[in-house]
Amino acid sequence: MVLQSVVRRSDGVLALGGLSLVDIARDARVGTPAYIYDVDAMMSEARELKSGFDDASHLVAYAVKANSAGPIVKALAAEGCGADVVSGAELRLALRCGISPECIVFSGVAKGDDELDLAIMAGAAGDGGRGGIAAIQVESVEEIPRIEARAAASGRVARVSLRINPAIDIGDLDTHSYIATGHDEAKFGVPRTSLEDALALLVSSRHVRLVGVGAHVGSQLTAVDGYVASARAVFTIARAIRARFPLAFVDGGGGFGIDYGDGCPVRPADFIRAARALQREMTVDDLALFCEPGRCLVGAHGVLLAKVVQQKVASARRWLMIDAGMNDLMRPALYQARHRIVPLLARAEAGLHATRVVGPVCESSDDFGVHDLPPAEPGSDFREVAILDVGAYGFAMASRYNGRALPAEVFLRGGAIIKVNARSAAEDWVTDRLRD
Ligand code: LLP
Repeated sequence: MVLQSVVRRSDGVLALGGLSLVDIARDARVGTPAYIYDVDAMMSEARELKSGFDDASHLVAYAVKANSAGPIVKALAAEGCGADVVSGAELRLALRCGISPECIVFSGVAKGDDELDLAIMAGAAGDGGRGGIAAIQVESVEEIPRIEARAAASGRVARVSLRINPAIDIGDLDTHSYIATGHDEAKFGVPRTSLEDALALLVSSRHVRLVGVGAHVGSQLTAVDGYVASARAVFTIARAIRARFPLAFVDGGGGFGIDYGDGCPVRPADFIRAARALQREMTVDDLALFCEPGRCLVGAHGVLLAKVVQQKVASARRWLMIDAGMNDLMRPALYQARHRIVPLLARAEAGLHATRVVGPVCESSDDFGVHDLPPAEPGSDFREVAILDVGAYGFAMASRYNGRALPAEVFLRGGAIIKVNARSAAEDWVTDRLRD
């Protein structure tokens, strides 16, 4: 049986990347909770996505926020991905992973001056003091004079792109309102009403050069329509302004959805093919097409392993207490997200019961939902579970709430463990909280 990236072997053992997850969970170097990543599968996602571009000039700027683990960012860089970063720290990480500045875009509505300086100064100065990253994504009119001032102070010309707000209504998108970003009231992007003001500033800027137009409409899109509508808004503006600005690219953003168990009818490359077709129709296909995928490259290829601590059966209700909590995986608490939960070792004879799976954190929302699971009597071999599809926005959003450790991370390639990042130590948290 194949559960996307994980496979249930005929002996009942759940496997990822060709390795038994039971062995990994019981490996003394690992412990639980632990995120396990199939890095090879992430690389093949990147290759499949890139195939959607055919020979067209493009950049797949991996949204580092989804999973910033070094082995993953480096592996995606080796597949030719650039990076979409949202902080100075992510920018430093992308550069340290070998991604060249010209393949990095920097989004965010509140970039600090120090972060702008990093972006402007990255890489060697080219002709006329140009250099820096591919583009700082301008998200408001007010940001333009700030970038101009920082670039002037460094004697450089900053490349920017206009991140527009495409005004796509959340109701039209099949995604959670917290992760829809392109609607009228979102803080993101330059709204249509401010566009002319932004262009007027840009045309007179001596240290800021507009090279692209982009948008990001939202995350976990399971149909191409919203993305195409957003791309149409981007291409319309690009076509209208390109006589005034020597544009190099258009950027459709990220947001390509994955299958969390209910199916996902589209593949990431379908979004790219649809955007390419629209580029041709609107005669902006000479501009490079950028995209900023996070989740679709890494999400389906990570699992979170947790130990069963105990069960609790009271009248008709059953709970399963596991050693992973909302601090390790925040998506269910934050977005009511549902992740499948399966035993690492499935015994055919065990009857399944509707069981609410909860963690140790002192919050009612530390709850992973109801799942059909076998009983977990003391001494039974139902000792661990895997929470599926957590490669994106899992570890990246983990915290030390309740004094809990950050989970371990294990990286798999070529059917072997290539790296183990151990869980943080409880004593480190105590020391940190007590530092002078
Ligand atoms: N580009 C921009 C400007 C973004 O804001 C985002 C995500 C992406 C690209 C990448 O989107 P993706 O391809 O991963 O959907 N923590 C939430 C998702 C937040 C997404 C924020 N922005 C979750 O766990 O669902």
